[in-house]
Amino acid sequence: MGRDLRAADLDLSEDLVNRIAGARSASVLTGAGVSAESGIPTFRGAGGIWEKYDFRKLATPQGFREDPQLVWEWYQLRQREMLKASPNPAHYVIADMERHYQEFSVLTQNIDGMHERAGSNNVVELHGSIWRLRCVRDGLVTQTDTPVEEIPPLCQCGSMLRPDVVWFGEPLSEDVVEAASRAAASSEVMFVVGTSAVVYPAAALPIITKNSGGLVIEVNAEPTDVTTYADASLMGFAGEILPALWKRMRRTESFMKEHPFIPNW
Ligand SMILES: NC(=O)c1ccc[n+]([C@@H]2O[C@H](COP(=O)([O-])OP(=O)(O)OC[C@H]3O[C@@H](n4cnc5c(N)ncnc54)[C@H](O)[C@@H]3O)[C@@H](O)[C@H]2O)c1
Ligand SMILES: [Zn+2]
Repeated sequence: MGRDLRAADLDLSEDLVNRIAGARSASVLTGAGVSAESGIPTFRGAGGIWEKYDFRKLATPQGFREDPQLVWEWYQLRQREMLKASPNPAHYVIADMERHYQEFSVLTQNIDGMHERAGSNNVVELHGSIWRLRCVRDGLVTQTDTPVEEIPPLCQCGSMLRPDVVWFGEPLSEDVVEAASRAAASSEVMFVVGTSAVVYPAAALPIITKNSGGLVIEVNAEPTDVTTYADASLMGFAGEILPALWKRMRRTESFMKEHPFIPNW
């Protein structure tokens, strides 16, 4: 990692580069892979979280009912790890994309808050956030930027708080799904970065973009289902590919017209 990929090395036609640079609306769907280079482990595959931990105990409503103490200890640990980690170049390029496109959203499956820390403003957190706690009784949500101290944390009403994240078997919030679907349908380009794209409804978002006539550009360390229908699949580390891609955008005329500000990484 940390290799400086040359912009010219990207397997992307000039025509696609021009269409990506000239688009008015875009979105990025991200998964655990976008934060991998920040040192936050992904879920599936070798070294993934679910290889080491039992998701039934830690990431289901049943698991929480049976042992809230254990679940909270695990989330406290993850909060501490996420706080120690920093956004990587992929998060920063995504934050800069927001300044280029007239309409832009980050649709993330991650709960780590890294996109916001890198400077993204319009972020739809499909699976919630580890930095929000929700009362199990009245649904009151509290925001925090530090790991929980008392375990389990309690609401003002005396009931227990839970992480405001979507666990296995739970539905996503309807508002969130609607906002994400709207963004996907109106995107002329969707970048799909570091997601295995097997968890629905998130995995349906690039299909919505594709069916609405938009381009789908995948960035992943390995092929996924998205690879079969993407307009381009750039294989490699997000923290190397995205900066190279963005460098190449800067060379196009349409980009320069609309993006006179040149960031300095
Ligand atoms: N509620 C829960 O606790 C829980 C449990 C499991 C999954 N989920 C949700 O399912 C979602 C879907 O999983 P996912 O796709 O985010 O994670 P994932 O672990 O399934 O996939 C990670 C993807 O990132 C790619 N990748 C790894 N390192 C990369 C890098 N440096 N650059 C580019 N790509 C890289 C991998 O090839 C893989 O395709 C999760 O984000 C999570 O929100 C939630
Ligand atoms: Zn309460």
